[in-house]
Amino acid sequence: MKLLKFLVVVLFAVTAVGVISASRNVSGQAVTEAPTGFDNKTNGMIDQLAFDTARKAFEERDTIEEGLGPVYNAQSCAECHQSPTTGGISQITVLRAGHRDRNGNFVEAPGGSLVQDRAIHPSLQEVITLDENITTFRTSLNVLGDGFVEAIADETLLEIARNQERRGGPIAGQAIQVPVLEAPGITRVGRFGWKNQHASLLSFSADAYLNEMGITNRLLRTENTSWGRSVAAFDPVPEIEDQEDDIELFTRFMRASKPPSRDEAIANTIEARAGAQLFNQIGCAVCHVPTIVTAPPGTSLNGGTFIVPPALGSKAIHPFSDFLLHDVGTGDGIVQNGGQATANKLRTSPLWGLRTRNRFMHDGLSLTLEDSIRRHRGTSTGSTNRFNQLNERQRAQVIRFLRSL
Ligand code: HEC
Ligand code: HEC
Repeated sequence: MKLLKFLVVVLFAVTAVGVISASRNVSGQAVTEAPTGFDNKTNGMIDQLAFDTARKAFEERDTIEEGLGPVYNAQSCAECHQSPTTGGISQITVLRAGHRDRNGNFVEAPGGSLVQDRAIHPSLQEVITLDENITTFRTSLNVLGDGFVEAIADETLLEIARNQERRGGPIAGQAIQVPVLEAPGITRVGRFGWKNQHASLLSFSADAYLNEMGITNRLLRTENTSWGRSVAAFDPVPEIEDQEDDIELFTRFMRASKPPSRDEAIANTIEARAGAQLFNQIGCAVCHVPTIVTAPPGTSLNGGTFIVPPALGSKAIHPFSDFLLHDVGTGDGIVQNGGQATANKLRTSPLWGLRTRNRFMHDGLSLTLEDSIRRHRGTSTGSTNRFNQLNERQRAQVIRFLRSL
């Protein structure tokens, strides 16, 4: 059975850049293409009216009276996830910090590694001190289509990791088990965030509502401190502040959203097609996996709190990621949910929607695609060298292909 599923995945991977006709996955379910588009339209999981309601919650700006802060980063989810449509990316980065202890273990900055950039009172502003000498920026991420990513079975991600291991060498990605906040005691393979710190969109929503906006909610009930100091004297709203269960609406919006679409006009050029082949040949696709199939409808996820609906189940998606952690030589030294071994690892960036970005890599410090490829060292040195050995026209073809994503 496993072999069969593996074959199906490989078959898809091979045909990934073309059109996939309906096929069958292990359970005999018809596999169809997930819809795509930057069009503010539902993927069919809920109707358009319900989708628009959920999207508005994601766009809504919160005020101090509604619980914003005391320390926070922005007033709405869409402030950082917006381009070209709500749920896409933005140029906004967030700041993380910490240091190493005597044993070399990462220790977060006071009050957590996320350093909030804003506060509702000047005395609460967090500022990095010299002790916290590990710092990084993290760009915001696309959330469109993330319902399909949530619906990938753990086993599928573990199979991709085993598959990488079979190729030998250190290229194998690491899957980490992370807590599912809405199902206490349950863990799942992490897939969201630069460090794969979450596996569930409801958990991520609760985390972001508290840490990016300062809104306490049913899953995370305690306000952040300002650099370790209590903010109680400045907090006018009693916990919990998310009275209307907004985290449920954010989750619904993300689950019902469509993944980024490709620029077909570019994708269909001879140059981009050649680039897609080179992308496979030089080994980029080993980590940036072109096609993954989601679990069948009816599959129970997140400790039974989410059942894969027909709109999300048995769908072929093209995220160009393995959703695993790798050390490609760009590690930021920060540990979140994955333990000390993950300090210098990052999730393979999903390349769907890449054409909406102009600042690349976790820190947003690469301003060209060529630079982001050349920064890949560590376990991806092989494919970087193969890229560098391509002739000028071939390199341009790879870039052309990337610009179609
Ligand atoms: C200040 C900007 C900012 C705000 C506000 C914000 N986010 Fe994010 N979001 C980010 C950044 C930065 C990341 C990457 C974080 C990381 O992994 O270090 C991210 C990552 C995510 C991811 C992971 C996406 C993926 O595919 O891996 C989800 C889901 C998400 N945010 C949801 C939300 C929700 C829901 C809200 C509103 C409650 C929100 N965000 C508010 C900046 C923001
Ligand atoms: C060993 C796994 C691995 C291989 C092989 C690999 N990548 Fe990556 N890629 C990553 C990781 C991990 C990141 C995130 C690194 C970071 O942000 O510091 C990344 C990031 C990127 C980004 C930046 C995307 C963004 O949204 O900022 C691009 C572009 C990219 N890779 C293209 C390629 C190309 C082209 C190749 C082949 C020449 C390749 N990668 C090979 C793992 C890999």
